[in-house]
Amino acid sequence: MSVSLLSLTRPLDTVSGLLQLAFLLGLALLLLKAAQLYQCRQWLLKAVQQFPSPPSHWLFGHKRELQKEDELQLLLKWIEDFPCAFSRWIWGTEAEIMIYDPDYMKLILGRSDPKSDGSYRLMAPWIGPFPPTPLTHCGPGYGLLLLNGETWFQHRQMLTPAFHYDILKPYVRLMADSVQVMLDKWEELLTQNSHLEIFEHVSLMTLDTIMKCAFSYQGNHQADRNSQSYIQAIRDLNNLVFARMRNVFYQKDFFYWLTSEGRRNHKACQLAHQHTDRVIKRRKAQLQEEGELEKIRNKRHLDFLDILLLAKVENGRGLSDKDLRAEVDTFMFEGHDTTASGISWILYALATHREHQQRCREEIQSLLGDGASITWEHLDQMPYTTMCIKEALRLYPPVPGVGRELSKPITFPDGRSLPKGFLVLLSFYALHHNPNVWPNPEVSLHRAMLSCPSQEDQGTASGSTLP
Ligand code: HEM
Repeated sequence: MSVSLLSLTRPLDTVSGLLQLAFLLGLALLLLKAAQLYQCRQWLLKAVQQFPSPPSHWLFGHKRELQKEDELQLLLKWIEDFPCAFSRWIWGTEAEIMIYDPDYMKLILGRSDPKSDGSYRLMAPWIGPFPPTPLTHCGPGYGLLLLNGETWFQHRQMLTPAFHYDILKPYVRLMADSVQVMLDKWEELLTQNSHLEIFEHVSLMTLDTIMKCAFSYQGNHQADRNSQSYIQAIRDLNNLVFARMRNVFYQKDFFYWLTSEGRRNHKACQLAHQHTDRVIKRRKAQLQEEGELEKIRNKRHLDFLDILLLAKVENGRGLSDKDLRAEVDTFMFEGHDTTASGISWILYALATHREHQQRCREEIQSLLGDGASITWEHLDQMPYTTMCIKEALRLYPPVPGVGRELSKPITFPDGRSLPKGFLVLLSFYALHHNPNVWPNPEVSLHRAMLSCPSQEDQGTASGSTLP
């Protein structure tokens, strides 16, 4: 009896021994992680000590304030409280300096610090490779927006001719045609309904434009189902990337892709890629046709996609399929979403300022007369409309900010400094609403139009509006 009892307790001993060992290991790992996080926080605290900060929680940082209040209202309050810059705690062990002073901005933009890994990396599955690698040494499969270093420089040099002044001129006609299609559609829709949600229509119009101008892809994309599902996928991706940025549990790829949001993100990426693959495939097939290659070789300036397809990067080799796809994904997105957002906000600003809307209308009517389409030459003959556009872009910048990771220490003009490796957010939204730069920044359109006729020159010369 006693023998059989002994033989039963031995495996139990082994199991509890293993559990104890696992517990001790787990505890050791936990302590190690806690020590690392503590060290990281101490480093951050030391790095930001010369900068003011709104009160923050040691663990949640400014998360709770940002969740409670309207983020932009809070930002406006902080800009008023802290001139130039402040430290923003995303989490107890993650901080960045938000800057919005023109001299601070010029200093950073004059250096070549890489784009910060955090938020840009979250776009990689969509406009870069999957799974993503750290952006500071990103390799093949990334487009210009995410690239850094040598490869960025190579791609930039290769693609700059696609946006030469001369190549843009004939695009005005294509753009005007796309706008006309949208306006005809609106006229019809407004007979059925007194109001219209414009963003999707404007997105289809800007997508139509970029498809024709940069990708030599003719057709009526505004009525095309593929374009509509691409626009829907981009809208989902914008929302999902933004939501991921704000959720600490969604940061690690492995966990994120298991969540329902991760799966929706993956699906939307696939839809977006199907669209760009179709465009590449069609242009490649056209280039196989007799005479087509010769035709584009004789062009003075090549379209963006033709540059990519005919590119010789190194040793006479062309771009890899991955690089090509990433650039097409990047330009397809950047080329329509930013402009759609900018145009929608300009229309919003004009809709809420009828007197300026009327003056713009009169200016354009006096220039075009009845029925004529806009041309390149008209563009610098509409100063009032141009100022309204610039003022709306100041109030509602389509890209509200960009992030950089300092590749070397920096000292700002007022003597404050930051160490290498620190994250800096250049907030265009905050710059454009900085009361030290723009007295009474919320007096939209009116002030700029009536009392500050040189707003345009003033803004660009002093760095008080970007980009
Ligand atoms: C209102 C319109 C636009 C705004 C406000 C805007 C804004 C910006 C900003 C702020 C950046 C810098 C991002 C960073 O450095 O982190 C950027 C980069 C970029 N934009 Fe735009 N953009 C606009 C239109 C366009 C269009 C029409 C295209 C393409 C046809 C485009 C393609 C790109 C590309 C490829 C980059 C990456 C450039 C590089 O890193 O070298 N953008 N844009």
